[in-house]
Amino acid sequence: MSDHLNHLALRAGLSRRHLLQAGVGLGAAAALAGYAAPAVAVPAGSMPSDAEIWGVPTLNPLVERRADPFVTRPVDGMYYLTGSVPEYDRLVIRGSASLAGLATAAESVIWRRPASGKMGGHIWAPELHRIDGRWYVYFAAGDSDDVFRIRMYVMESTLADPRDPAGWGTPRQIVTPWASFALDATTFEHAGRRYLVWAQSEPEIAVNTSLYIAEMSSPFAISTFPARIATPTRSWEVQGYKVNEGPAVLVRNGRVFLTFSASATDARYCMGLLTASADADLLDPASWTKSPDPVFMTNAQTGQYGPGHNSFTVAEDGVTDVLVYHARDYRDITGDPLYDPNRHARVQKVVWHEDGTPMFGVPVGKGGPIVRLTPLDAPGSFVRHYDYAVRVDRAPRELADSQFRFVPGLAGDGSESLQSVNFPDRYVRVTGGTVRIDPVEPGPAYAAEASFRRIPVKGGISLQVATDRGDYLQHDRGALTVGSAPGRRSSTFGLT
Ligand code: AHR
Repeated sequence: MSDHLNHLALRAGLSRRHLLQAGVGLGAAAALAGYAAPAVAVPAGSMPSDAEIWGVPTLNPLVERRADPFVTRPVDGMYYLTGSVPEYDRLVIRGSASLAGLATAAESVIWRRPASGKMGGHIWAPELHRIDGRWYVYFAAGDSDDVFRIRMYVMESTLADPRDPAGWGTPRQIVTPWASFALDATTFEHAGRRYLVWAQSEPEIAVNTSLYIAEMSSPFAISTFPARIATPTRSWEVQGYKVNEGPAVLVRNGRVFLTFSASATDARYCMGLLTASADADLLDPASWTKSPDPVFMTNAQTGQYGPGHNSFTVAEDGVTDVLVYHARDYRDITGDPLYDPNRHARVQKVVWHEDGTPMFGVPVGKGGPIVRLTPLDAPGSFVRHYDYAVRVDRAPRELADSQFRFVPGLAGDGSESLQSVNFPDRYVRVTGGTVRIDPVEPGPAYAAEASFRRIPVKGGISLQVATDRGDYLQHDRGALTVGSAPGRRSSTFGLT
Protein backbone atom coordinates (compact mmCIF):
# COMPACT_ATOMS: atom_id res chain seq x y z
CA MET A 1 0.00 0.00 0.00
CA SER A 2 2.49 2.65 1.17
CA ASP A 3 4.94 2.29 -1.77
CA HIS A 4 2.10 2.70 -4.22
CA LEU A 5 0.83 5.70 -2.27
CA ASN A 6 4.32 7.24 -2.29
CA HIS A 7 4.46 6.73 -6.05
CA LEU A 8 1.04 8.30 -6.53
CA ALA A 9 1.90 11.15 -4.21
CA LEU A 10 5.04 11.88 -6.21
CA ARG A 11 3.02 11.71 -9.44
CA ALA A 12 0.47 14.09 -8.00
CA GLY A 13 3.23 16.40 -6.77
CA LEU A 14 1.76 16.11 -3.29
CA SER A 15 3.36 14.83 -0.08
CA ARG A 16 2.17 11.42 1.13
CA ARG A 17 1.24 13.05 4.44
CA HIS A 18 -0.95 15.58 2.53
CA LEU A 19 -2.82 12.77 0.83
CA LEU A 20 -3.37 10.92 4.10
CA GLN A 21 -4.41 14.11 5.88
CA ALA A 22 -6.96 14.72 3.18
CA GLY A 23 -8.31 11.25 4.04
CA VAL A 24 -7.73 10.17 0.50
CA GLY A 25 -8.23 6.46 -0.25
CA LEU A 26 -5.87 4.81 -2.73
CA GLY A 27 -8.52 5.13 -5.43
CA ALA A 28 -8.84 8.81 -4.89
CA ALA A 29 -5.08 9.23 -4.91
CA ALA A 30 -5.11 7.52 -8.29
CA ALA A 31 -7.75 9.97 -9.40
CA LEU A 32 -5.77 12.90 -8.01
CA ALA A 33 -2.71 11.67 -9.76
CA GLY A 34 -4.68 12.17 -12.94
CA TYR A 35 -5.73 8.65 -13.71
CA ALA A 36 -8.80 9.19 -15.81
CA ALA A 37 -10.90 11.35 -13.42
CA PRO A 38 -11.09 15.09 -14.06
CA ALA A 39 -8.94 17.22 -11.78
CA VAL A 40 -10.66 17.73 -8.44
CA ALA A 41 -9.50 20.45 -6.06
CA VAL A 42 -8.50 19.02 -2.68
CA PRO A 43 -9.83 21.32 0.05
CA ALA A 44 -7.38 22.94 2.46
CA GLY A 45 -7.26 21.35 5.86
CA SER A 46 -8.27 17.78 6.54
CA MET A 47 -11.33 15.69 6.49
CA PRO A 48 -12.11 13.90 9.72
CA SER A 49 -11.66 10.17 9.46
CA ASP A 50 -14.72 7.92 9.73
CA ALA A 51 -13.52 6.94 13.19
CA GLU A 52 -13.43 10.61 14.20
CA ILE A 53 -16.90 11.13 12.73
CA TRP A 54 -18.31 8.09 14.54
CA GLY A 55 -16.52 9.25 17.65
CA VAL A 56 -16.96 6.13 19.79
CA PRO A 57 -14.94 2.93 19.97
CA THR A 58 -15.92 0.33 17.38
CA LEU A 59 -14.51 -2.48 19.48
CA ASN A 60 -17.58 -4.69 19.98
CA PRO A 61 -17.98 -6.08 22.54
CA LEU A 62 -16.09 -3.49 24.59
CA VAL A 63 -15.93 -5.75 27.65
CA GLU A 64 -17.03 -9.37 27.70
CA ARG A 65 -19.30 -10.82 30.39
CA ARG A 66 -20.17 -7.57 32.08
CA ALA A 67 -23.95 -7.35 32.07
CA ASP A 68 -25.97 -4.26 33.07
CA PRO A 69 -22.93 -2.16 32.09
CA PHE A 70 -22.63 1.26 33.70
CA VAL A 71 -20.01 3.73 32.49
CA THR A 72 -19.61 7.06 34.27
CA ARG A 73 -19.17 10.31 32.42
CA PRO A 74 -15.52 11.36 32.68
CA VAL A 75 -14.60 12.41 36.24
CA ASP A 76 -11.24 14.15 36.49
CA GLY A 77 -10.54 12.76 33.00
CA MET A 78 -11.37 9.16 33.91
CA TYR A 79 -14.14 6.87 32.75
CA TYR A 80 -15.16 4.12 35.17
CA LEU A 81 -17.05 0.97 34.21
CA THR A 82 -18.90 -1.43 36.46
CA GLY A 83 -21.51 -4.10 35.80
CA SER A 84 -22.86 -7.46 36.92
CA VAL A 85 -20.33 -10.31 36.88
CA PRO A 86 -21.56 -13.79 35.87
CA GLU A 87 -20.86 -15.16 39.35
CA TYR A 88 -23.09 -12.42 40.86
CA ASP A 89 -20.74 -12.43 43.92
CA ARG A 90 -18.84 -9.13 43.93
CA LEU A 91 -18.65 -5.50 42.84
CA VAL A 92 -15.94 -4.55 40.35
CA ILE A 93 -14.73 -1.25 38.88
CA ARG A 94 -12.25 -0.51 36.08
CA GLY A 95 -11.07 2.88 34.93
CA SER A 96 -9.49 4.46 31.87
CA ALA A 97 -8.89 7.89 30.36
CA SER A 98 -10.65 6.68 27.19
CA LEU A 99 -13.73 4.60 26.46
CA ALA A 100 -11.68 2.22 24.34
CA GLY A 101 -9.19 1.86 27.17
CA LEU A 102 -11.89 0.29 29.35
CA ALA A 103 -11.60 -2.83 27.21
CA THR A 104 -8.21 -3.74 28.66
CA ALA A 105 -8.17 -1.75 31.90
CA ALA A 106 -7.38 -3.60 35.11
CA GLU A 107 -10.44 -4.43 37.18
CA SER A 108 -10.57 -3.91 40.90
CA VAL A 109 -12.87 -5.79 43.27
CA ILE A 110 -14.20 -3.15 45.65
CA TRP A 111 -16.55 -5.41 47.62
CA ARG A 112 -17.36 -9.12 47.95
CA ARG A 113 -20.64 -10.48 49.25
CA PRO A 114 -20.60 -12.10 52.72
CA ALA A 115 -20.36 -15.87 52.89
CA SER A 116 -23.87 -16.02 54.39
CA GLY A 117 -26.76 -13.89 55.52
CA LYS A 118 -27.99 -10.57 54.17
CA MET A 119 -26.46 -9.64 50.80
CA GLY A 120 -25.01 -13.13 50.57
CA GLY A 121 -27.09 -13.85 47.47
CA HIS A 122 -27.11 -12.52 43.90
CA ILE A 123 -25.29 -9.18 43.46
CA TRP A 124 -26.78 -7.29 40.53
CA ALA A 125 -26.61 -4.16 38.42
CA PRO A 126 -24.17 -1.86 40.22
CA GLU A 127 -23.99 1.82 39.29
CA LEU A 128 -21.23 4.28 40.25
CA HIS A 129 -22.22 7.90 40.91
CA ARG A 130 -20.21 10.95 41.96
CA ILE A 131 -22.35 13.06 44.35
CA ASP A 132 -21.04 16.15 46.12
CA GLY A 133 -17.42 15.02 45.71
CA ARG A 134 -17.97 11.48 46.98
CA TRP A 135 -18.45 8.16 45.22
CA TYR A 136 -21.55 6.01 45.70
CA VAL A 137 -22.27 2.55 44.36
CA TYR A 138 -25.92 1.55 44.07
CA PHE A 139 -26.51 -2.16 43.65
CA ALA A 140 -29.04 -4.92 44.29
CA ALA A 141 -28.37 -7.91 46.50
CA GLY A 142 -30.17 -11.09 47.52
CA ASP A 143 -29.55 -13.10 50.70
CA SER A 144 -27.69 -16.37 51.07
CA ASP A 145 -30.85 -18.24 52.09
CA ASP A 146 -32.81 -16.76 49.20
CA VAL A 147 -30.61 -15.40 46.44
CA PHE A 148 -33.67 -13.76 44.82
CA ARG A 149 -34.72 -11.82 47.94
CA ILE A 150 -33.29 -8.89 46.07
CA ARG A 151 -33.18 -5.46 47.72
CA MET A 152 -31.40 -2.18 46.92
CA TYR A 153 -28.24 -1.05 48.68
CA VAL A 154 -25.82 1.86 48.46
CA MET A 155 -22.32 2.30 49.77
CA GLU A 156 -20.02 5.31 49.89
CA SER A 157 -16.33 5.91 49.30
CA THR A 158 -14.51 8.93 50.61
CA LEU A 159 -11.45 8.34 48.40
CA ALA A 160 -10.83 10.05 45.05
CA ASP A 161 -10.22 6.74 43.28
CA PRO A 162 -13.32 4.55 43.35
CA ARG A 163 -11.22 1.51 42.46
CA ASP A 164 -9.58 1.58 45.88
CA PRO A 165 -11.40 -0.99 48.02
CA ALA A 166 -10.17 0.72 51.18
CA GLY A 167 -12.40 3.73 50.58
CA TRP A 168 -15.70 1.89 50.59
CA GLY A 169 -17.88 1.84 53.68
CA THR A 170 -20.59 -0.65 54.67
CA PRO A 171 -23.54 -1.02 52.31
CA ARG A 172 -26.79 0.51 53.56
CA GLN A 173 -30.19 -0.67 52.37
CA ILE A 174 -32.40 1.81 50.51
CA VAL A 175 -35.76 1.37 52.17
CA THR A 176 -39.03 1.69 50.28
CA PRO A 177 -42.60 1.20 51.54
CA TRP A 178 -42.66 -2.39 50.24
CA ALA A 179 -40.48 -5.25 51.46
CA SER A 180 -40.36 -6.80 48.01
CA PHE A 181 -38.12 -7.51 45.01
CA ALA A 182 -36.36 -4.20 44.32
CA LEU A 183 -33.41 -3.58 41.99
CA ASP A 184 -31.66 -1.53 39.31
CA ALA A 185 -31.50 1.77 41.23
CA THR A 186 -30.24 4.81 39.35
CA THR A 187 -29.97 8.37 40.63
CA PHE A 188 -29.87 11.71 38.85
CA GLU A 189 -30.08 15.39 39.67
CA HIS A 190 -32.41 17.71 37.84
CA ALA A 191 -33.38 21.32 38.53
CA GLY A 192 -31.66 21.19 41.93
CA ARG A 193 -33.42 18.03 43.13
CA ARG A 194 -31.98 14.52 43.35
CA TYR A 195 -34.12 11.59 42.32
CA LEU A 196 -33.93 7.82 42.60
CA VAL A 197 -35.53 5.62 39.92
CA TRP A 198 -35.71 1.85 40.38
CA ALA A 199 -37.65 -1.31 39.57
CA GLN A 200 -39.79 -3.05 42.19
CA SER A 201 -42.64 -5.54 42.45
CA GLU A 202 -45.45 -3.70 44.22
CA PRO A 203 -47.68 -6.19 46.12
CA GLU A 204 -51.01 -5.22 44.49
CA ILE A 205 -49.65 -4.98 40.95
CA ALA A 206 -49.65 -8.32 39.06
CA VAL A 207 -46.38 -7.85 37.23
CA ASN A 208 -42.79 -8.76 38.05
CA THR A 209 -41.49 -5.20 38.23
CA SER A 210 -42.65 -1.65 37.51
CA LEU A 211 -40.61 1.56 37.59
CA TYR A 212 -40.75 4.01 40.50
CA ILE A 213 -39.36 7.46 41.13
CA ALA A 214 -38.89 9.33 44.41
CA GLU A 215 -36.98 12.37 45.57
CA MET A 216 -33.91 11.73 47.72
CA SER A 217 -33.12 13.36 51.06
CA SER A 218 -29.53 12.09 50.81
CA PRO A 219 -27.60 9.65 48.64
CA PHE A 220 -28.80 6.94 51.05
CA ALA A 221 -32.52 7.57 51.31
CA ILE A 222 -35.71 8.56 49.50
CA SER A 223 -37.88 11.27 51.01
CA THR A 224 -41.12 11.00 49.02
CA PHE A 225 -43.60 8.17 48.56
CA PRO A 226 -42.65 6.29 45.39
CA ALA A 227 -44.56 7.24 42.24
CA ARG A 228 -45.12 4.39 39.80
CA ILE A 229 -44.24 5.87 36.40
CA ALA A 230 -44.31 2.72 34.23
CA THR A 231 -45.80 -0.77 34.38
CA PRO A 232 -45.27 -3.50 31.77
CA THR A 233 -48.48 -3.84 29.75
CA ARG A 234 -47.51 -3.90 26.09
CA SER A 235 -46.67 -7.14 24.30
CA TRP A 236 -42.95 -6.32 24.07
CA GLU A 237 -42.80 -5.76 27.83
CA VAL A 238 -44.30 -9.04 28.95
CA GLN A 239 -42.36 -11.70 27.02
CA GLY A 240 -41.28 -14.40 29.53
CA TYR A 241 -41.65 -12.00 32.45
CA LYS A 242 -43.68 -8.80 32.91
CA VAL A 243 -40.79 -6.45 33.42
CA ASN A 244 -39.85 -2.78 33.40
CA GLU A 245 -36.31 -2.47 34.83
CA GLY A 246 -32.80 -1.10 34.22
CA PRO A 247 -33.73 2.62 34.13
CA ALA A 248 -31.24 5.20 32.75
CA VAL A 249 -31.73 8.97 32.51
CA LEU A 250 -30.56 11.50 29.90
CA VAL A 251 -31.67 15.14 30.11
CA ARG A 252 -31.49 16.86 26.71
CA ASN A 253 -33.39 19.31 24.53
CA GLY A 254 -35.85 20.38 27.25
CA ARG A 255 -36.81 16.86 28.12
CA VAL A 256 -35.97 14.14 30.60
CA PHE A 257 -35.50 10.89 28.67
CA LEU A 258 -35.63 7.68 30.70
CA THR A 259 -34.82 4.42 28.95
CA PHE A 260 -35.71 1.13 30.54
CA SER A 261 -35.59 -2.56 29.68
CA ALA A 262 -38.45 -4.99 29.34
CA SER A 263 -39.32 -8.72 29.22
CA ALA A 264 -37.05 -11.68 30.06
CA THR A 265 -33.27 -11.28 29.81
CA ASP A 266 -33.00 -13.43 26.68
CA ALA A 267 -33.40 -12.45 23.01
CA ARG A 268 -36.79 -10.95 23.88
CA TYR A 269 -35.12 -8.35 26.14
CA CYS A 270 -35.49 -4.86 24.66
CA MET A 271 -35.52 -1.19 25.60
CA GLY A 272 -38.39 1.27 25.89
CA LEU A 273 -38.38 5.05 26.40
CA LEU A 274 -40.21 7.28 28.87
CA THR A 275 -40.24 11.03 28.23
CA ALA A 276 -41.14 13.96 30.48
CA SER A 277 -40.81 17.68 29.92
CA ALA A 278 -37.81 19.09 31.78
CA ASP A 279 -40.03 21.50 33.67
CA ALA A 280 -42.69 18.91 34.54
CA ASP A 281 -43.26 17.47 38.01
CA LEU A 282 -41.19 14.30 37.63
CA LEU A 283 -42.90 12.77 40.67
CA ASP A 284 -46.24 12.91 38.86
CA PRO A 285 -46.80 9.72 36.82
CA ALA A 286 -48.88 11.78 34.36
CA SER A 287 -45.74 13.69 33.39
CA TRP A 288 -44.30 10.58 31.74
CA THR A 289 -45.13 9.24 28.28
CA LYS A 290 -44.06 5.74 27.26
CA SER A 291 -42.92 4.88 23.72
CA PRO A 292 -45.58 2.68 22.06
CA ASP A 293 -42.91 0.37 20.69
CA PRO A 294 -39.46 -0.75 21.82
CA VAL A 295 -36.70 1.68 20.81
CA PHE A 296 -33.86 -0.84 20.80
CA MET A 297 -34.11 -4.59 20.31
CA THR A 298 -32.71 -7.84 18.99
CA ASN A 299 -31.39 -7.64 15.41
CA ALA A 300 -30.66 -10.91 13.63
CA GLN A 301 -28.92 -9.16 10.72
CA THR A 302 -26.31 -7.63 13.01
CA GLY A 303 -26.31 -10.74 15.20
CA GLN A 304 -27.14 -8.93 18.43
CA TYR A 305 -29.64 -10.45 20.84
CA GLY A 306 -31.44 -9.08 23.87
CA PRO A 307 -29.84 -5.62 23.97
CA GLY A 308 -30.61 -3.58 27.05
CA HIS A 309 -30.04 -2.56 30.65
CA ASN A 310 -28.28 0.50 29.35
CA SER A 311 -26.54 3.51 30.77
CA PHE A 312 -25.38 6.72 29.09
CA THR A 313 -22.02 8.40 28.93
CA VAL A 314 -20.35 10.89 26.59
CA ALA A 315 -17.49 10.39 24.17
CA GLU A 316 -14.10 12.00 24.60
CA ASP A 317 -15.31 15.06 22.68
CA GLY A 318 -17.53 15.73 25.68
CA VAL A 319 -20.54 16.17 23.39
CA THR A 320 -21.39 12.92 21.64
CA ASP A 321 -23.86 10.90 23.70
CA VAL A 322 -22.98 7.25 24.00
CA LEU A 323 -25.31 4.35 24.67
CA VAL A 324 -23.77 1.67 26.88
CA TYR A 325 -25.70 -1.63 26.89
CA HIS A 326 -25.34 -5.37 27.03
CA ALA A 327 -26.30 -7.94 24.39
CA ARG A 328 -25.45 -11.51 23.41
CA ASP A 329 -24.04 -12.71 20.09
CA TYR A 330 -26.55 -15.59 19.89
CA ARG A 331 -30.27 -16.11 20.25
CA ASP A 332 -30.71 -19.54 21.77
CA ILE A 333 -29.84 -20.02 25.44
CA THR A 334 -29.78 -23.28 27.34
CA GLY A 335 -31.39 -22.95 30.74
CA ASP A 336 -32.20 -19.76 32.65
CA PRO A 337 -30.86 -16.74 30.73
CA LEU A 338 -29.84 -15.17 34.05
CA TYR A 339 -27.16 -17.85 34.31
CA ASP A 340 -25.91 -17.52 30.74
CA PRO A 341 -22.73 -15.43 31.27
CA ASN A 342 -22.47 -13.95 27.80
CA ARG A 343 -24.17 -10.60 28.12
CA HIS A 344 -21.29 -8.43 26.90
CA ALA A 345 -20.89 -4.68 27.39
CA ARG A 346 -21.09 -2.63 24.17
CA VAL A 347 -21.12 1.04 23.23
CA GLN A 348 -22.50 3.00 20.30
CA LYS A 349 -23.48 6.52 19.41
CA VAL A 350 -26.83 8.05 20.29
CA VAL A 351 -28.07 10.08 17.30
CA TRP A 352 -30.48 12.92 17.91
CA HIS A 353 -33.44 13.48 15.61
CA GLU A 354 -33.95 17.10 14.57
CA ASP A 355 -37.07 17.12 16.80
CA GLY A 356 -34.81 16.68 19.81
CA THR A 357 -35.61 13.03 20.51
CA PRO A 358 -32.99 10.26 20.70
CA MET A 359 -32.61 7.61 17.99
CA PHE A 360 -30.92 4.37 19.02
CA GLY A 361 -31.16 2.53 15.71
CA VAL A 362 -30.05 -1.11 15.92
CA PRO A 363 -27.33 -2.77 17.99
CA VAL A 364 -24.62 -2.20 15.36
CA GLY A 365 -22.57 -5.33 15.99
CA LYS A 366 -19.05 -5.81 14.77
CA GLY A 367 -17.51 -3.59 12.09
CA GLY A 368 -15.73 -0.28 11.53
CA PRO A 369 -16.91 3.27 12.15
CA ILE A 370 -20.36 4.27 10.94
CA VAL A 371 -21.28 7.33 8.88
CA ARG A 372 -24.40 9.00 7.49
CA LEU A 373 -24.31 10.86 4.16
CA THR A 374 -26.02 14.22 3.59
CA PRO A 375 -26.06 15.81 0.14
CA LEU A 376 -24.91 19.40 0.37
CA ASP A 377 -28.06 20.52 -1.45
CA ALA A 378 -30.32 18.82 1.09
CA PRO A 379 -29.23 19.81 4.63
CA GLY A 380 -30.96 17.73 7.29
CA SER A 381 -31.52 14.92 4.80
CA PHE A 382 -29.73 11.61 4.67
CA VAL A 383 -29.01 8.89 2.12
CA ARG A 384 -31.04 5.90 3.26
CA HIS A 385 -32.08 2.59 1.87
CA TYR A 386 -35.69 1.64 1.51
CA ASP A 387 -36.89 -1.61 -0.03
CA TYR A 388 -33.63 -2.10 -1.98
CA ALA A 389 -33.91 1.41 -3.39
CA VAL A 390 -31.60 4.17 -2.20
CA ARG A 391 -33.01 7.64 -1.71
CA VAL A 392 -32.49 10.83 0.23
CA ASP A 393 -34.98 11.47 3.03
CA ARG A 394 -35.40 14.45 5.27
CA ALA A 395 -34.70 13.48 8.90
CA PRO A 396 -35.57 9.78 8.57
CA ARG A 397 -36.80 8.16 11.81
CA GLU A 398 -35.32 4.79 10.90
CA LEU A 399 -31.77 5.69 11.91
CA ALA A 400 -30.15 2.42 10.86
CA ASP A 401 -31.49 2.67 7.30
CA SER A 402 -29.29 5.73 6.93
CA GLN A 403 -26.16 4.29 8.55
CA PHE A 404 -23.34 2.89 6.43
CA ARG A 405 -19.77 1.72 6.77
CA PHE A 406 -17.05 2.43 4.22
CA VAL A 407 -15.30 -0.91 3.79
CA PRO A 408 -12.50 -1.99 1.48
CA GLY A 409 -13.96 -2.05 -2.04
CA LEU A 410 -15.42 -5.37 -3.15
CA ALA A 411 -13.65 -4.69 -6.44
CA GLY A 412 -10.34 -4.33 -4.61
CA ASP A 413 -8.07 -1.89 -6.51
CA GLY A 414 -8.15 0.53 -3.59
CA SER A 415 -11.80 1.44 -3.98
CA GLU A 416 -14.31 1.43 -1.17
CA SER A 417 -17.78 -0.04 -0.79
CA LEU A 418 -20.72 1.31 1.19
CA GLN A 419 -22.07 -1.43 3.46
CA SER A 420 -25.45 -1.13 5.17
CA VAL A 421 -25.26 -1.27 8.98
CA ASN A 422 -28.61 -2.95 9.56
CA PHE A 423 -28.29 -5.26 6.53
CA PRO A 424 -24.54 -5.98 6.55
CA ASP A 425 -24.91 -8.36 3.57
CA ARG A 426 -26.03 -5.43 1.39
CA TYR A 427 -24.02 -2.79 -0.43
CA VAL A 428 -24.86 0.35 -2.39
CA ARG A 429 -24.42 -0.45 -6.08
CA VAL A 430 -24.94 1.24 -9.42
CA THR A 431 -26.63 -1.14 -11.82
CA GLY A 432 -28.29 -0.26 -15.11
CA GLY A 433 -27.91 3.42 -14.28
CA THR A 434 -29.86 3.15 -11.03
CA VAL A 435 -28.56 3.22 -7.48
CA ARG A 436 -29.77 0.31 -5.37
CA ILE A 437 -28.82 -1.67 -2.30
CA ASP A 438 -28.79 -5.41 -2.86
CA PRO A 439 -27.60 -8.52 -1.07
CA VAL A 440 -24.03 -9.24 -2.14
CA GLU A 441 -23.61 -11.53 -5.12
CA PRO A 442 -20.43 -13.48 -5.87
CA GLY A 443 -18.37 -12.47 -8.88
CA PRO A 444 -16.77 -9.36 -10.38
CA ALA A 445 -19.94 -7.79 -11.78
CA TYR A 446 -21.58 -7.02 -8.44
CA ALA A 447 -18.19 -6.14 -6.94
CA ALA A 448 -17.53 -3.58 -9.66
CA GLU A 449 -21.00 -2.07 -9.37
CA ALA A 450 -20.64 -1.75 -5.59
CA SER A 451 -17.25 -0.01 -5.53
CA PHE A 452 -16.58 3.70 -5.33
CA ARG A 453 -13.76 6.16 -4.86
CA ARG A 454 -14.11 8.75 -2.19
CA ILE A 455 -13.00 12.09 -3.69
CA PRO A 456 -12.55 14.96 -1.23
CA VAL A 457 -14.22 18.11 -2.49
CA LYS A 458 -15.17 21.39 -0.90
CA GLY A 459 -17.69 20.68 1.80
CA GLY A 460 -17.28 16.94 1.85
CA ILE A 461 -16.75 14.07 -0.52
CA SER A 462 -17.90 13.02 -3.94
CA LEU A 463 -18.35 9.34 -4.67
CA GLN A 464 -16.89 8.30 -8.00
CA VAL A 465 -18.28 5.10 -9.48
CA ALA A 466 -15.30 2.78 -9.66
CA THR A 467 -16.41 1.13 -12.90
CA ASP A 468 -16.91 4.37 -14.75
CA ARG A 469 -14.76 7.16 -13.48
CA GLY A 470 -16.85 9.74 -15.22
CA ASP A 471 -19.79 8.90 -13.01
CA TYR A 472 -20.52 10.22 -9.51
CA LEU A 473 -23.38 9.59 -7.12
CA GLN A 474 -25.68 12.57 -6.98
CA HIS A 475 -28.86 13.65 -5.26
CA ASP A 476 -31.81 14.47 -7.47
CA ARG A 477 -35.06 15.49 -5.80
CA GLY A 478 -35.02 12.78 -3.17
CA ALA A 479 -33.48 10.13 -5.38
CA LEU A 480 -29.86 9.04 -5.46
CA THR A 481 -28.77 8.83 -9.10
CA VAL A 482 -25.59 8.99 -11.15
CA GLY A 483 -24.23 12.24 -12.56
CA SER A 484 -21.10 13.35 -14.31
CA ALA A 485 -19.70 16.08 -12.15
CA PRO A 486 -18.05 15.85 -8.75
CA GLY A 487 -18.05 18.69 -6.28
CA ARG A 488 -21.49 20.01 -7.13
CA ARG A 489 -23.88 20.62 -4.23
CA SER A 490 -25.88 17.61 -5.43
CA SER A 491 -22.83 15.37 -5.73
CA THR A 492 -21.10 16.47 -2.54
CA PHE A 493 -21.90 14.54 0.60
CA GLY A 494 -21.21 15.62 4.15
CA LEU A 495 -20.43 12.78 6.53
CA THR A 496 -21.81 12.73 10.05
O1 AHR B 1 -28.29 -8.97 35.52
C1 AHR B 1 -29.03 -9.22 36.62
C2 AHR B 1 -30.39 -8.64 36.53
O2 AHR B 1 -30.96 -9.06 35.34
C3 AHR B 1 -30.45 -7.14 36.45
O3 AHR B 1 -30.42 -6.51 37.67
C4 AHR B 1 -31.77 -6.94 35.82
O4 AHR B 1 -31.85 -5.74 35.15
C5 AHR B 1 -31.89 -8.13 34.93
O5 AHR B 1 -33.15 -8.69 35.08
